[in-house]
Amino acid sequence: MAVTGKSYKRASRLLAGGKLVAIPTETVYGLAANALDEQAVEQIFFTKGRPHYNPLIIHIGSKSDLSKYVMEVPDVAQRLIEAFWPGPLTLLLPKKDIVPDLITASLPRVAVRMPDHPLTLNLLQLLDFPLAAPSANPFCYISPTKAEHVQQQIGYKIPYILDGGPCEQGLESTIVGFEEGVPVVYRLGAITPEEIKEVAGQVLINQKSSKQPEGPGMLPFHYSPRTPLYFTDQINELLQEYDLTKTGVISFQRMIEGVPAEHQVVLSAAGNMQEAASKLYDSLHYLDRLNLSHIIAEKLPEHGLGLTINERLKKAAGKTTGSAPKVEASNS
Ligand code: TXA
Ligand code: MG
Repeated sequence: MAVTGKSYKRASRLLAGGKLVAIPTETVYGLAANALDEQAVEQIFFTKGRPHYNPLIIHIGSKSDLSKYVMEVPDVAQRLIEAFWPGPLTLLLPKKDIVPDLITASLPRVAVRMPDHPLTLNLLQLLDFPLAAPSANPFCYISPTKAEHVQQQIGYKIPYILDGGPCEQGLESTIVGFEEGVPVVYRLGAITPEEIKEVAGQVLINQKSSKQPEGPGMLPFHYSPRTPLYFTDQINELLQEYDLTKTGVISFQRMIEGVPAEHQVVLSAAGNMQEAASKLYDSLHYLDRLNLSHIIAEKLPEHGLGLTINERLKKAAGKTTGSAPKVEASNS
């Protein structure tokens, strides 16, 4: 098991020695290594079971570090940095040679962000290298938003988890590249396209699902629990036909009658999207541990963070095919 603690100095010593450390960010926990040390970066791929074609984000501790790793920063990117860094915005920019091809899967652009978490910012400021960090979950499983999620999933493979408490945002960063000066969103995230448009004047959304990330590797399934998950905007109709004692429910604002209360998570009774986002992955982790026969997740209103949450739930349901099992006499 990994040691869990709040010592960013201990984390810095391990990272400087080429080891992996799980780090808190405002979005999700990351599995970090020295981004300039290929052997250390290799261990990230190995530990997550992640294919090498899926490139990694590098994390920096100050805005001025960006020019060490990228060739140029367009004006519009600079405006987004001023508006959103430190914060959940990842920029794709042409890389300098110092960034190993292993980080970018040999793509010409590198993904960079400055995370907004006090412990991790302190850590980055102690280090003289950036941190490569994908989410600290096994490939395609649910992203971790608490130190205990990391411990449960990959704790036995790493020496240290820097515990920064629950992640405030609870959704990964928004990934943005630029085409002829126009920001293009490649992955929806904690910052909405509307917010980007307010700063940049324009925004495009590119969300092709592909295994070979021309843009970011947007695999058709991802973030999945082990329990079959069904994603629906007809939750009441769907539930009429199931064995509710074995059903888990993630709903937006209200409990569903007939389903045991301990099998249900309401994302935000007040209908607050930010609250819903921060609870999403923890809810999936929680329900997945109950060994239910299936989980049904309700579609959120399609605006703002609701779009990101729905996209994540759709992907979480991506591996589940067919409809949920109907009640059988032997089940009840
Ligand atoms: O919020 C976040 O972004 C978290 C925290 C830990 O910072 N990190 C995260 O990393 O979500 P990961 O590896 O789980 O997702 C990164 C995504 C992948 O879909 C990857 O394909 C894409 O970013 N990506 C990374 N570098 C890229 C590049 N050079 N070109 C295109 N896509 C890239
Ligand atoms: Mg991830």
